[in-house]
Amino acid sequence: MNQKLKTSLAFAKNLFVTGAITETSRTVEIEICKKIPKNQDVVVVEYGMGHGNITLEILKNISPNSKVYAFEVKESFCDHVRKTIKDDRLIVINDGAENVKKHVKEDIHSVIASIPFSFFSKEKGIGIIQDSFDLLKEGTYYSQVLYTKHNFKKFQHVFQDENCTIRKVSSKIPAEYIYDCKKVKR
Ligand SMILES: C[S@@+](CC[C@H](N)C(=O)[O-])C[C@H]1O[C@@H](n2cnc3c(N)ncnc32)[C@H](O)[C@@H]1O
Repeated sequence: MNQKLKTSLAFAKNLFVTGAITETSRTVEIEICKKIPKNQDVVVVEYGMGHGNITLEILKNISPNSKVYAFEVKESFCDHVRKTIKDDRLIVINDGAENVKKHVKEDIHSVIASIPFSFFSKEKGIGIIQDSFDLLKEGTYYSQVLYTKHNFKKFQHVFQDENCTIRKVSSKIPAEYIYDCKKVKR
């Protein structure tokens, strides 16, 4: 069985945690990394690492002295990534995005997320967005991929309407949307 099929089976088996039966598309992997600052060392936080497809793309986009804190609630997915991605810049954290402040004690330059917001309570969702906003340096972005536009309001609530954009990046079914939200001090 090829790796893509194995990943799909693992996602489907855990559908209520993963919120998906396949990995996000190659277009998403590329597009979601577009707001990571270039030509400088950065600290990136990833939420919902899965089997590490976006993680690999983040690692391609950052300098040798940068780092990535990658959060994932499923222990088996963390084990998979620890075995398959050998990179000193990657810190795998087997915990939820809602606990980001417990693990990340420095300013960050980017959040790249593919966690299933539609499965979270409003309070949990807003909490994750607010904690991310607090950690982000001014002028940097939280980018989130989702299969629906319905969670956009939560991001606008924290980042303010004028600092958030939404783009449809693929017309596969279901469609994939990327929300990009810039931190601007209030
Ligand atoms: C839709 S999958 C995305 C996986 C992969 N990054 C991709 O792009 O295909 C969502 C992932 O988020 C993880 N997840 C769910 N809730 C989470 C949370 N609160 N914090 C961190 N990861 C979470 C799931 O286990 C799953 O691996």
